[in-house]
Amino acid sequence: MSEELSSANFVAWFRSVAPYVNLFRGKTFVIAFGGKAISGPLARTLAYDVNLLAALGIRLVLVHGARPQIEEELQEKGLPSLYHGRYRVTDAAALDCVIDAVGSVSLEIEALLSQGLPDTPMANSTIRVVGGNFITAKPVGVLDGVDMQYAGNVRKIDADGIRAQLGIGNIVLLSCIGASPTGEIFNLAMEEVAESAAISVGADKLLFLTDSCGATDVDGSLLDELTADAAERLIRQGDWLSTDLKRYLPCAVRASRAGVGRVHLIDYNEDGTLLRELFSRDGVGTIISRESLERLRDARPDDIGGLVALIEPLEEDGTLVRRSRELLEREIGHFSVIEHDGMIVGCAAIYPYGEAQGELACLAVHPRYRRWGYGEQLMKRIETRARGLGVQQLFVLTTVTSHWFKERGFVEATVAALPSEKRLVYNLQRRSKVFIKPL
Ligand SMILES: CC(C)(COP(=O)(O)OP(=O)(O)OC[C@H]1O[C@@H](n2cnc3c(N)ncnc32)[C@H](O)[C@@H]1OP(=O)(O)O)[C@@H](O)C(=O)NCCC(=O)NCCS
Repeated sequence: MSEELSSANFVAWFRSVAPYVNLFRGKTFVIAFGGKAISGPLARTLAYDVNLLAALGIRLVLVHGARPQIEEELQEKGLPSLYHGRYRVTDAAALDCVIDAVGSVSLEIEALLSQGLPDTPMANSTIRVVGGNFITAKPVGVLDGVDMQYAGNVRKIDADGIRAQLGIGNIVLLSCIGASPTGEIFNLAMEEVAESAAISVGADKLLFLTDSCGATDVDGSLLDELTADAAERLIRQGDWLSTDLKRYLPCAVRASRAGVGRVHLIDYNEDGTLLRELFSRDGVGTIISRESLERLRDARPDDIGGLVALIEPLEEDGTLVRRSRELLEREIGHFSVIEHDGMIVGCAAIYPYGEAQGELACLAVHPRYRRWGYGEQLMKRIETRARGLGVQQLFVLTTVTSHWFKERGFVEATVAALPSEKRLVYNLQRRSKVFIKPL
């Protein structure tokens, strides 16, 4: 254990990962990467991370390409590398190179996932990787007068076959080769295989490992999340996008629209991006989703874990009044939450008192998501709920956030203005300020 991660830090860090482990267990992820990702120095650590995901009970389909390896084979044999549009013009000689290169990359991946040396993250691992004839291909045909020969598209994916393998704990490895019902072999685009596989098995996530940090805007700043519509606009405008991004984004958009929950674009040039993307609140790459990732809604009993994670640090530093977990469970119906990509990042509660008063309580936004307007959205939600309950006057007790409320129409009042029930439990030591807003 490194010094920075010793004792308390280690325990806190390990616990912080639990919500993701709960969220991801039994989910299906398709991870797609080109041949370059597997030829680089980080191939070994990528295998470590895939092993870890499998050990956490995530069902994995890996899809690999082999472009640089195919180029090498062609060069060795003195053959030209010809592209027409997005596809390699694949004659019989080029197809032989494709078969050799793809075969050796697949074997390399199997070997990487078969490591089990002690003192490595793969000690004690027992991963079983299976390939097979899961992809049926069809010829691309003649494009603009160019006969693409053995360049193919995906015609069908044997989703049941893949699911059966995932169901018994195997990792499924797909390549950029498929056979047609006529028994011919076709060279496919890896990203199209990934897209079709993710859609047909109903994947929860499709992750593309790419040659850049994710999708970027014209200034090179990372776009950490995009709706499918925004990603489509980016494809039309984004001359600046990297080669991988230009290839993968259209597949990402189609997969997202066809129901793949999240499509992630992350960098293969940096160690650990897969884990950081999946197991941290912010991630490190770009997420594409059909709709916006944030949702403002009323809380449900299964939000308790997320709520506790959000408010506990604020209870500990005294910003919020401590609530027992039992109380929280009983009062969950009073809360509204903001969810971001499945995580609770903001909350607030409404407690009606007497005929016409109500308390806005426990307003909190996760520090990383502050100044996005979430606090204000939650306040407005609580005001709407309060009006619906007949509340005419909303009050709030606060020690450190008085100006935030003042700037939003609350005015300072005395403890005497509180409903009598609340006055009785007013904590004199906290000396909270009272603010009131007529609705
Ligand atoms: C108060 C809180 C909920 C605001 O959440 P948020 O999502 O950042 O709120 P918004 O994005 O709607 O508003 C952000 C604005 O409020 C300002 N702000 C944040 N905290 C403030 C405070 N204590 N006093 C005055 N202004 C504050 C920010 O500076 C920002 O304004 P600016 O961009 O003009 O500088 C959040 O800071 C929080 O969780 N604080 C800790 C818990 C707390 O104090 N809760 C209230 C107790 S009842």
